[in-house]
Amino acid sequence: MLTKCLFPAAGYGTRFLPATKAMPKEMLPIVNKPLIQYGVEEAIEAGIHQIGFISGRGKRAVEDHFDISYELEHQIQGSSKENLLQEIRQVIDQCSFAYTRQIEMRGLGHAILTGEALVGRDPFAVLLADDFCVSDGPGVLAQMVRLFEEHACTVVAIEEVPRDATQNYGVIAGDEIAPGLFRVSEMVEKPAPADAPSNLAIIGRYILTPDIFDILRETPPGRGGEIQITDAIAKQAEHGRVLAFQFEGRRFDCGSLHGFVEATNFVYQTRFIGE
Ligand code: UTP
Repeated sequence: MLTKCLFPAAGYGTRFLPATKAMPKEMLPIVNKPLIQYGVEEAIEAGIHQIGFISGRGKRAVEDHFDISYELEHQIQGSSKENLLQEIRQVIDQCSFAYTRQIEMRGLGHAILTGEALVGRDPFAVLLADDFCVSDGPGVLAQMVRLFEEHACTVVAIEEVPRDATQNYGVIAGDEIAPGLFRVSEMVEKPAPADAPSNLAIIGRYILTPDIFDILRETPPGRGGEIQITDAIAKQAEHGRVLAFQFEGRRFDCGSLHGFVEATNFVYQTRFIGE
């Protein structure tokens, strides 16, 4: 049973400065809801209710968001605005929240290792809230949980990207064992297009088995001088214990200005127009 999900949110978010000067980019709203709330809702839909945040600066904004604001609630109680807080109240009621702080930004792998204290020796999910995903059916994490329950190994979500974009992603190679499902043989972090083993790129959804922590402890800094989760998962892949899954749905890279604006337009068009 998968019950825990880590949300790394300690990055500097430099592409969104000055908006991210005093708050993590995961608090940026897509229309009226912060990215991180969409992420937590996706975890809940996948049956996961123990939420762990790895934060850095701006930790308070995340903590306050997933807490009750007595003053605000008192003010709007009984008014037509009360229902605007209903969704976040439901999220808060369904989950437990734990926090830890990544003191030095040493990469996503290091951020996940920092979360070991919140996860213990259980398998767990990792969701990067700046990869905002939508789907008509079950959410991406719910699709991955189904696979994890069947195969009991690490699962990463992938999508096809243009060949000339591989240097922005971790890229996999592997055998397709079922439509859209690959047993990973190789993973490379941010390869130049000429060196990329495929155009199948890893996006910000992972289910990891807890041996990843022992591997991460031994993983030296890689690309960009950072401890890369891709390098650690590549070690698991050497033993055939990693699946990559082409999820159903659509991803917006909300870590980039372009993706963020696209997601905003998409959500506004599909969920707000006509209300
Ligand atoms: P990014 O590579 O998008 O970096 O991190 P960033 O710092 O957030 O953004 P830019 O490039 O400066 O604009 C991917 C994810 O990994 C987390 C980030 O919070 C983001 O969710 N992360 C990254 C950490 O938590 N710690 C790190 O040391 C690095």
